Amino acid sequence: MQIERLSSGTKVIDELLNGGAEHTVITNFYGPPGSGKTNLGLLFTLSCLKQGNVVYVDTENGFSTERFFQMGGTKEDLKRVLYENPTNFKEQARVIQKLKKLNTKLIIVDSIVSLYRLELNKDNFTEVNKELANQLATLSFIAKEKKIPVIITNQVYSVNSDEIELSGRDVVKYWSKCLVELKKVDDNRRLAILRKHRSLPEGIKAEFEITGGGIDKAKFRIF
Ligand SMILES: Nc1ncnc2c1ncn2[C@@H]1O[C@H](COP(=O)(O)OP(=O)(O)OP(=O)(O)O)[C@@H](O)[C@H]1O
Ligand SMILES: [Mg+2]
Repeated sequence: MQIERLSSGTKVIDELLNGGAEHTVITNFYGPPGSGKTNLGLLFTLSCLKQGNVVYVDTENGFSTERFFQMGGTKEDLKRVLYENPTNFKEQARVIQKLKKLNTKLIIVDSIVSLYRLELNKDNFTEVNKELANQLATLSFIAKEKKIPVIITNQVYSVNSDEIELSGRDVVKYWSKCLVELKKVDDNRRLAILRKHRSLPEGIKAEFEITGGGIDKAKFRIF
């Protein structure tokens, strides 16, 4: 049976994901600041609003209504975005628990790890990681129960000069059935690389640009 997918509203990312983010599982877009994570969150939100409410859990005040309108969103659209803005990791846990009862066609958590990183110290590592795993297990359960996509974004850190690692490491990788790495190539150009997928080859890539209206396929340029 064909898995249902939610379009990203942008051709280049839909092509990479063979139609979009899969229903029933967690898709994770990870990358450095400015790589396009929040832009994608907004684009998926706009794409889904045609079908119903979207829950947007914004942990770092990244949701810009100005950007939302630039991308074609209207005031009416905005009313159907259920906006949550937790300010610490415990609040994030409460928000995620609450989502079980909400009627929604898409859940976005942008990002899953910023408040986790603030909470983490050398004494609470095990406990805080367990809580992160709990939150991801809940999101995964909701995706399955409601048959909707859950999209999370993830910060990264450098391991060495050419290697990066996801904050939350194995815990987030385990629970994300689809992992897409975003890279900044230059001021305009970005690269999306599929790193994990249940039915598509790992390593396939798409070049894109962030534009006034959203995200477009990168243009061929002669320097
Ligand atoms: N109207 C626009 N036209 C072109 N580029 C834009 C526009 N609005 C935002 N951008 C670009 O989008 C990029 C920011 O993307 P985004 O906010 O999605 O990054 P992010 O991966 O979420 O970063 P962070 O980790 O800091 O949250 C910046 O390079 C910014 O210049
Ligand atoms: Mg962001």
